[in-house]
Amino acid sequence: MGNTKITFIGAGNMAASLIGGLCKQGVHAHNINASDPGEAQLEKLKSTYAIHIFTDNQLAVKGADIIVLAVKPQIMRQVCEQLAVAVTDQQLVISIAAGITSDSLIRWLGVHTIIRCMPNTPALIQQGVSGLYATKAVSTQQRKQAEQLLSAVGLAVWLENEQLIDAVTAVSGSGPAYFFLLIEAMTEAGIKLGLPADIAAQLAQYTAQGASNMACQSTLDAAQLRQQVTSPNGTTDAAIRAFQQGGFNQLVETALRSAASRSQELAQQLSE
Ligand SMILES: NC(=O)c1ccc[n+]([C@@H]2O[C@H](COP(=O)([O-])OP(=O)(O)OC[C@H]3O[C@@H](n4cnc5c(N)ncnc54)[C@H](OP(=O)(O)O)[C@@H]3O)[C@@H](O)[C@H]2O)c1
Repeated sequence: MGNTKITFIGAGNMAASLIGGLCKQGVHAHNINASDPGEAQLEKLKSTYAIHIFTDNQLAVKGADIIVLAVKPQIMRQVCEQLAVAVTDQQLVISIAAGITSDSLIRWLGVHTIIRCMPNTPALIQQGVSGLYATKAVSTQQRKQAEQLLSAVGLAVWLENEQLIDAVTAVSGSGPAYFFLLIEAMTEAGIKLGLPADIAAQLAQYTAQGASNMACQSTLDAAQLRQQVTSPNGTTDAAIRAFQQGGFNQLVETALRSAASRSQELAQQLSE
């Protein structure tokens, strides 16, 4: 990212992961600022990465090319309104907060160069996936910089329509919990089939990891990979039939629709 100067407002879990990812990618620590009221949090980041730390948000954004808003959605309005005097349209603002629309950010900050981003928790181990939406005022170069920044913690994909952020929230934002649920259920079933609890858990966890890596690396899609390992009348076939008879696909669709509509509701509440 060359000499791009990046300021993080809020130095919690997500900011720490992004800073860690950026430093790993070779971004110089002297180009990174973080601002947060929690001094212990800041000191930890400073001693780990040697970045610049601030407790004053307005000072922290001075001279920054990119400002990453990484505070909780509930305090975003207050943080933005306080930053409004210090931020300009030459700076790119990336918000990773769930549910805060670009219109609200434009209104609260008074700048138009906004990117909204929905990451997920595996970003904490640099294996996340983020959906990004850019307003019209964002330049091609700024889009590239945002993509590089989010790529530090995993895959970044662009959305042409901001409303699709609700679908991203339903699929990948909340998605890790669905896989945890499946791992939990498979572990419990394994125990009922007689396996020791720790072995059942390891089998479920590593199977999820292996299957996911195969799906990501293969040129075949998930349905083709499933068909490849499902011989007619075999053991996998018996299990898949049981899932399908229980309405598995329909259930997943209903669950994701519920998440998307809750995301929409929360966005409306937070934008008021
Ligand atoms: N964690 C995830 O996987 C995930 C996924 C998708 C989206 N997000 C979004 O990412 C954002 C950050 O999440 P997080 O998990 O990193 O939260 P977090 O760990 O609570 O970090 C937020 C940080 O902001 C600090 N803060 C509070 N008031 C501030 C202010 N006025 N100015 C500057 N900093 C302030 C907090 O300090 P105190 O603790 O002292 O209040 C805290 O250190 C949220 O909006 C969340 O919706 C997170």
